[in-house]
Amino acid sequence: HAAEAQRTDLMTITRHALNEQGRHPESRGDFTILLSHIVLGCKFVASAVNKAGLAKLIGLAGETNIQGEEQKKLDVLSNEVFVKALVSSGRTCVLVSEENEEAIFVDAPLRGKYCVCFDPLDGSSNIDCGVSIGTIFGIYMIKDKDNATLEDVLQPGTDMIAAGYCMYGSSCTLVLSTGNGVNGFTLDPSLGEFILTHPNIKIPNKGKIYSVNEGNARNWDVPTARFVEKCKFPQDGSSPKSLRYIGSMVADVHRTLLYGGIFLYPADKKSPNGKLRVLYEVFPMSFLMEQAGGQSFTGKQRALDLVPTEIHQRSPIFLGSYDDVEEIKSLYASES
Ligand code: AHG
Ligand code: MN
Ligand code: MN
Ligand code: MN
Repeated sequence: HAAEAQRTDLMTITRHALNEQGRHPESRGDFTILLSHIVLGCKFVASAVNKAGLAKLIGLAGETNIQGEEQKKLDVLSNEVFVKALVSSGRTCVLVSEENEEAIFVDAPLRGKYCVCFDPLDGSSNIDCGVSIGTIFGIYMIKDKDNATLEDVLQPGTDMIAAGYCMYGSSCTLVLSTGNGVNGFTLDPSLGEFILTHPNIKIPNKGKIYSVNEGNARNWDVPTARFVEKCKFPQDGSSPKSLRYIGSMVADVHRTLLYGGIFLYPADKKSPNGKLRVLYEVFPMSFLMEQAGGQSFTGKQRALDLVPTEIHQRSPIFLGSYDDVEEIKSLYASES
């Protein structure tokens, strides 16, 4: 009967959040309301992604964002959807989006106590060929609701209270942590609900996969080059690791979380701070990795200890299985 009970005991993401809220008697469900608006945004983007080819939603929007990237139509659409959903939740105060040059300060009547940093559509280069893409978000608590400043989002990742991503792939999977472990939910399109399918995700301590854009090898620094060399030509008689690189951070990180291994976007001579953005890519994924028993390193320090000084700041990142990241840390330590 357990299986039967399991089938009918639908643990939706909202019910799960309410259960978690039980641990915070002081909260009045504000986080659950915020989460339900993030979930609404994810459901909308999932449906737009699934019809992109049919609804002429692929291709360029004809604009360029602050990152200097050509915005795809889905970049712009998903950004508008998330900004509207987050503002209308009445639970946010400051928003930082990859697609907005400046932070968004919510007007007083709709102001709440959370700051959300998000990448509305991650992996844009993969939209037109139907490869998995995603949304990434990290959540801070506002310091003083009545005078929100940029300082509220220029905080170390250790101050984040929750983080997650939604991956739009063969299925739509939302992975979330509120600081008490990591849980995965899969969208059941017939119900329109995210159902708990991956309770308490823990990343294997060691993995057999490394995930990096080898095309940048010419520009890597010595520790990174040495690490990748060891993955391909291990000196200890172990077998070489496999290379898996999808080019959407959400997909590469999701595989790393479930299968183990290491994902790296290192610094290189062209971009000394790497490519990935601290507030809405590096911090949320590092938060999740640590909550799942892995770790995340910048080449210089624990990623979550970084204190950003501007909202689109970038950082090199090495994240994944605990033991695999230890190896890269010792290579950087011996070089310094
Ligand atoms: P975005 O599409 O949100 O701009 O992010 C793209 C990022 C990330 O998803 C991925 O890990 C990385 O770009 C891939 O970069 P390269 O193509 O340089 O490997
Ligand atoms: Mn982009
Ligand atoms: Mn991204
Ligand atoms: Mn993006």
